[in-house]
Amino acid sequence: MSAPPSSAPRWMLYGASGYTGQLIAEEAVRRGHRPVLAGRSREKLAPLAERLGLELAAVGLEEMRGLVSALEGLPLVLHAAGPFIRTSESMVQACLATRAHYLDITGEIPVFENTFHHDAEARARGIALMSGVGFDVVPTDCMARYVAERVPGAHELDLAIVFSGQASPGTAKSMLEQVPSGGRVRRGGALLPWPMGKGLRRVRFTDAERTVAPIPWGDLVTAWHTTGIPNITTYMALPRAAARVVRFTYPLLQRALSVEAIRHGAERLIESRMHGPNETARNEHHTQIWAEARAPDGRRAQAWLELPEGYAFTAVAAVRAVEEVLARKPQGALTPAGTFGADFVLSIPGCRRLDALP
Ligand SMILES: NC(=O)c1ccc[n+]([C@@H]2O[C@H](COP(=O)([O-])OP(=O)(O)OC[C@H]3O[C@@H](n4cnc5c(N)ncnc54)[C@H](OP(=O)(O)O)[C@@H]3O)[C@@H](O)[C@H]2O)c1
Repeated sequence: MSAPPSSAPRWMLYGASGYTGQLIAEEAVRRGHRPVLAGRSREKLAPLAERLGLELAAVGLEEMRGLVSALEGLPLVLHAAGPFIRTSESMVQACLATRAHYLDITGEIPVFENTFHHDAEARARGIALMSGVGFDVVPTDCMARYVAERVPGAHELDLAIVFSGQASPGTAKSMLEQVPSGGRVRRGGALLPWPMGKGLRRVRFTDAERTVAPIPWGDLVTAWHTTGIPNITTYMALPRAAARVVRFTYPLLQRALSVEAIRHGAERLIESRMHGPNETARNEHHTQIWAEARAPDGRRAQAWLELPEGYAFTAVAAVRAVEEVLARKPQGALTPAGTFGADFVLSIPGCRRLDALP
């Protein structure tokens, strides 16, 4: 690998040895960055740091003094170690202490809410806190802003996702953490419980019409901040039969996963059996988003987005978000589209937005 220029951006990638962390590290180097690869295990970080020719910092999230010292002189952390419900707060505290911008790739609703609780402190410290710079929520946040700008005064926003391909072990473990909280929608500005599997509908995507079911996606928090629209539903495309099964089995799953021992057992199973998608799968699969904003007087706008596979997208989107934050130096707890605009997603190769179906 040829030596990069000394002006190459230097920041911390925490959780670098995880499945998604490695993809982000490789993308960062491709784009001329020199991130410090950080995480709690020197043994896991060393082969990656050697292969990419990067510095490493081995420090646990519970070691605040060590974290603060590792962050010395670095302007930003991209946090990729999840489930974030367990890891985000200590890194946010380290960033507030050292005045480093904080970005993460969470999709977990309580984590988005927690990030926004630190808005005033982030402003006072002159840093940005931005959760969700991956597949969840960059494309949906950009689409939310895009349709909302076309319908001033909109009171309803629907977003639907077609995810194709497989989940990484980290994503599966993060989903397990969310199951006991159940479904959610936003109504009248408040987050409300919603039975999983209820509210199925059909949505036309660019290639086909599909059944979609409400799911608790991060936009229930972020799109509310980005657009101010008080009624938001986020959907995922599912085979109709699967969506019906979810309605009856989910309460059982919720009860089972509320038991810590069962949740830990499921985590161990995921760790031993699951792998993230390989390069071929990342290149072959594609995803889609549909968004619609509606106003009380009947005005409405729809748009569609075609984009790469979720993990391939996340690696590029996260590094692009780092570049934008380093260049713009925004302050406070922020959303990607609220800060970079609706067209940010179009700066990621392989993304195509449509205002009408072909
Ligand atoms: N927003 C999105 O679209 C998006 C996309 C991809 C991933 N994600 C999220 O990103 C997270 C990571 O996913 P992944 O696929 O990379 O998972 P992974 O392969 O399991 O990697 C997880 C990483 O986090 C580290 N980690 C976990 N708990 C930690 C703790 N308490 N302290 C320090 N380090 C800790 C792990 O370190 P060890 O190896 O030492 O355990 C590992 O480096 C998940 O929460 C996933 O949902 C989100």
